[in-house]
Amino acid sequence: MATFQAPRGTADILPDVQPLWRFVTETAREVALRHGYARLDTPIFEATGLFVRGVGEGTDIVDKEMYSFRDKGGDDLTLRPEATAALCRAYLEHGLQNGPRPVKLFTIGPFFRHDKPQAGRYRQFQQFNCEAIGEIDPAVDAEIIQVAWRFYRELGLHDLALALNSIGCPKCRPNYLDALRAYSEAHFDDLCHDCQGRLARNPLRLLDCKNPRCQALMAGAPKTTDYLCAECADHFAGVRRFLGILGIPYQIDHRLVRGLDYYTKTVFEVLPAETGGQSAIGGGGRYDGLIEQLGGHPTPAVGFATGLERVILNLQRQGVTPESTAPPLVYVVHRGAGADEAAWQLARSIREAGWPAVVSFGGRSIKAQMRNANALGAGWAAILQENEVQAGTVTLRNLRDHAEEVLPQSKIAARLRRD
Ligand code: HAM
Repeated sequence: MATFQAPRGTADILPDVQPLWRFVTETAREVALRHGYARLDTPIFEATGLFVRGVGEGTDIVDKEMYSFRDKGGDDLTLRPEATAALCRAYLEHGLQNGPRPVKLFTIGPFFRHDKPQAGRYRQFQQFNCEAIGEIDPAVDAEIIQVAWRFYRELGLHDLALALNSIGCPKCRPNYLDALRAYSEAHFDDLCHDCQGRLARNPLRLLDCKNPRCQALMAGAPKTTDYLCAECADHFAGVRRFLGILGIPYQIDHRLVRGLDYYTKTVFEVLPAETGGQSAIGGGGRYDGLIEQLGGHPTPAVGFATGLERVILNLQRQGVTPESTAPPLVYVVHRGAGADEAAWQLARSIREAGWPAVVSFGGRSIKAQMRNANALGAGWAAILQENEVQAGTVTLRNLRDHAEEVLPQSKIAARLRRD
């Protein structure tokens, strides 16, 4: 047993799953660009205060899950637990509000939460994240959902459900919270211990408690959508209209509130049917107050993020394997006087022409080298023995159909190009 293992809740991404990762991240990048989103990558760590203020005290992320530390210069920093607050910080810092609106941004990268590890839940995970900043039109909410939906579709994920809700704004939410508090206080003794605490700190979180008794109780709780002000109700109607236009099916989920404090109006999650609706593969919503909270002018915004490990888990469950687009490997086999020098030169010219090539090490027999080439899944063996070296030729063997031909070493790139 090795002395060290990857830290709990983290995982190595081994070579055999790299094609799936490449497929997922390339699809994300391509779908985002196609919808007019530009890439912006922020640092892995930020000032702790950014997330405390942005995501909110009283949320699980801020209260329990942040990797926070004081660095050697005395700065309080946190490994980013999410992208939205960081992207808004970058938007303000670089004056992006002066450009055309909405400012549409995406990012892909690792995030960190000290969560309880289990299938699909990690302490380091990757997200594909999109944000549209500076536009209140409900069509933008629908577009953000469309980007997520398109991404899942192009990967070949099926049986996904979109849950949608509106949780109002600072104008109408207090009325709703009063009603929710009154309802919950009347059932106080039936609430789980956590929810009894949440009632005072963050009552909205009662709605998505995982305890079955609380869930049963909350099924009868007042609905956020019954308390929306005229502006929020109109906005919600607009989002549903555009989702209809885009042909994206959804279900209203009155208990959907999301775990971050910055949301206003629209909230949504995408859930795979197979997990019984337990863990969302993606989620997002509108956050019209966040930019102002971070020191900017009042600026409406909406976004989503999807966890790539969860996406990959679902692709693996569905048996989706991306088609390999990588060119076949050329394995340079060599034996005899002068063959090693010719082998290294040949490998260099093959690589310069754009094909992957490896040279055998360690003076093995031709048979052992061929075994190695097959074990590596090489498409070609380029064989150099003394006779080839003297004649300036190479024997090229196709390892799929075993066809063999002898050609000048200088012609190998042109020959590979034909196949
Ligand atoms: P979130 O719901 O906290 O939202 O995370 C989005 C997605 O990240 C989740 O649906 C899940 O797929 C993945 N995820 C979260 N935590 C973990 C974990 N511990 N392990 C594996 N995957 C995880 C946000 O982060 C918001 N910033 C989304 C957003 C963008 N809202 C507006 N704009």
